[in-house]
Amino acid sequence: MFPFSIIVAVDLENGIGKNGGLPWHLSGDMKHFKDLTTSVESRDKKNVVIMGRKTWDSLPSKIKPLPERMNIILTRKALLFPEGVFQSASLNGALDLINDHLKGRVEKVFVIGGGEIFNEALNHPHCHKIYLTQILSKFTCDTFFPPFTHLFQTLNESPHYHEHSLEYYFAEYFRKE
Ligand SMILES: NC(=O)c1ccc[n+]([C@@H]2O[C@H](COP(=O)([O-])OP(=O)(O)OC[C@H]3O[C@@H](n4cnc5c(N)ncnc54)[C@H](OP(=O)(O)O)[C@@H]3O)[C@@H](O)[C@H]2O)c1
Repeated sequence: MFPFSIIVAVDLENGIGKNGGLPWHLSGDMKHFKDLTTSVESRDKKNVVIMGRKTWDSLPSKIKPLPERMNIILTRKALLFPEGVFQSASLNGALDLINDHLKGRVEKVFVIGGGEIFNEALNHPHCHKIYLTQILSKFTCDTFFPPFTHLFQTLNESPHYHEHSLEYYFAEYFRKE
């Protein structure tokens, strides 16, 4: 089965969302997200982004489906999505879809949120890596990234960046042996 990565931005209390949206606007982090999830080595392939239905709902209509990536939405409901968007009733169902039907066209797989999906993905044995943006501030949040440092360890941290009075850095975590 395809290994996959999580990509997430958290505040100092692991907050990730508020009222169905992001609590902050950081264009440097948006660019990081786009670059990481879009870039491929093979021009014949694309990356997959897997997201919960509420995260899909939160995307601005002009960028959904997320361009240049295969979009898979997790929902337990019978909903209609735009042509070309895949849906699955479980995370394993999405991974099976990639393995069984999309494999030859897929380079990397990213779980992009939100809180419910991260919770399941973190504990999945095929989740090998977390790309984490650490924002060094506290926001009022209603959605959180689950505890993860008992399962993952950090190997790389970027320099610190500053944008509108916010300081943040990018870290990569790998699953502990
Ligand atoms: N900071 C970040 O990096 C980041 C990233 C992404 C999102 N967010 C934020 O996170 C918030 C959204 O997160 P959330 O936890 O409320 O919702 P979510 O995880 O995006 O979506 C939850 C929905 O996904 C579906 N779902 C959940 N588990 C499933 C499973 N195992 N199988 C099939 N479907 C499943 C259900 O959809 P149905 O109800 O349709 O069945 C559920 O209502 C927003 O505020 C968003 O802005 C932050």
